[in-house]
Amino acid sequence: MIRVRIANREQIPVMVTEDLRRQLERKPDSVLGLPTGSTPMMVYRELVAQQAQGKIDFSHVTTFNLDEYVGLDEKHAQSYKYYMYENFFRHVNIDLNNTHIPNGTTKNLEEECRRYENLIEQSGGIDWLLLGIGLNGHIGFNEPGESLIAATHVQKLREETRTANVRFFGSSQNVPTHAITMGMGSILKVMKIVLVAFGKEKAEIVAKAINGPVTTWVPASFLQLHRDVTFVLDQEAASEIKSI
Ligand code: GLP
Repeated sequence: MIRVRIANREQIPVMVTEDLRRQLERKPDSVLGLPTGSTPMMVYRELVAQQAQGKIDFSHVTTFNLDEYVGLDEKHAQSYKYYMYENFFRHVNIDLNNTHIPNGTTKNLEEECRRYENLIEQSGGIDWLLLGIGLNGHIGFNEPGESLIAATHVQKLREETRTANVRFFGSSQNVPTHAITMGMGSILKVMKIVLVAFGKEKAEIVAKAINGPVTTWVPASFLQLHRDVTFVLDQEAASEIKSI
């Protein structure tokens, strides 16, 4: 079941931070699933601010990122490893040894996917996952298609996803063609999921995810099958939802 909370855009990072703070109060050594993209930037800024004020503590957490581009190493400014370090990890009291991101530069990508999935399992599973949503309904990099894959896997990126990400890479030839992503099964196994979306351009896909049929063509619609998902939206992103 998907719960919806609507708030002003500035309030959203505060609400998400509050939710995570409560989670860490209940379980200081929680395992967190973390996203990248432009949407979570405000959340990371708020988490950093609140940690600096001693209101939230990351010293016991373990983190797993949702995805990483194939072929970009940590020095590449668009790699998700770089993003996480620059926007979050280096500013907070987290032990970098407890932060995990798939390695998109290894020779054996299949082996890396298995290693990552096993590592999540060995950590006891993810307690709390923050998600964004792609314009085509992808979560992590689980792209729409005939089928979805349960475990962490290599995903070929769809053209619309590569086009949406040109803004980060300058030109379309520079956008990677593949990524490693947690699978839909890895996501649905998480205990608690919070999805954040802002703005008019996400309104249509948010409504499809919440009100539409559960379909592999809108991967986020699978969240309807999960027992604890909250969509935190601004008015614009919520504007096409029908009552649920
Ligand atoms: C990216 C990421 C997703 C993210 C989505 C939306 O490509 N792989 O995890 O949720 O696209 O990004 P944004 O928040 O920039 O709209």
